[in-house]
Amino acid sequence: MTNRGLFITLEGGDGSGKSTQAELLEQWLGSRGRTILRSREPGGTEVGEQIREIVLHHRGEISPRAEALLYAADRAQHIDTRVRPALERGDVVIQDRYIDSSLAYQGAGRALDLGEVRELSRWATGDLWPDLTILLDLDEVTARTRLDSSRTRFDRLEAEKNDFHRRVRAHFLELAAAEPRRFLVLDASLDIQTLAGLIRERVDTLLSA
Ligand code: TYD
Repeated sequence: MTNRGLFITLEGGDGSGKSTQAELLEQWLGSRGRTILRSREPGGTEVGEQIREIVLHHRGEISPRAEALLYAADRAQHIDTRVRPALERGDVVIQDRYIDSSLAYQGAGRALDLGEVRELSRWATGDLWPDLTILLDLDEVTARTRLDSSRTRFDRLEAEKNDFHRRVRAHFLELAAAEPRRFLVLDASLDIQTLAGLIRERVDTLLSA
């Protein structure tokens, strides 16, 4: 499917700095006169915020398949009601996390079948893929140290052990290697302005293409 707008997603482990970069990119694109929808998954819609509360903060067990379905339901609502309309208007969508998070966290992290997780999201979104996915790659130990200093409570996923986050990170890198045209992989330990510059460069190329 072709869109008139531009769909950009940010991916990476918890604590990799996605929100900071999303904000800087939003400011830069805004200053160039683009209309932007900044959003996130889980969340991003009213229904999504309720789902977010369940997947991130429900006390007690959620089975891996139920978790995958909850993220997919959030995604379907978000894409149908907010993202697709924005892209059809010609806006730039800057989104924190998308299908690749489900592949990395539910697929590699929870060890669900990767093909099934992909198919679930493909169905939920009507096969909508980003034009660009920025992967902020950071080793899980550094990411954890960053989180420890900034968080007072950890969500269900953040509370997982290092081994879980190692699998998540490795899978993000595999996804990026398989689709080098869609992904921009950046070392998230670089300083904020350097990262922002590298992101702007790539987005600029896309916009002028
Ligand atoms: P959030 O606070 O948005 O992430 P961040 O750490 O980037 O600020 O929390 C989202 C959590 O949900 C994060 O730990 C990753 C997880 N997640 C999945 O497991 N699957 C998914 O499909 C998505 C979108 C997120």
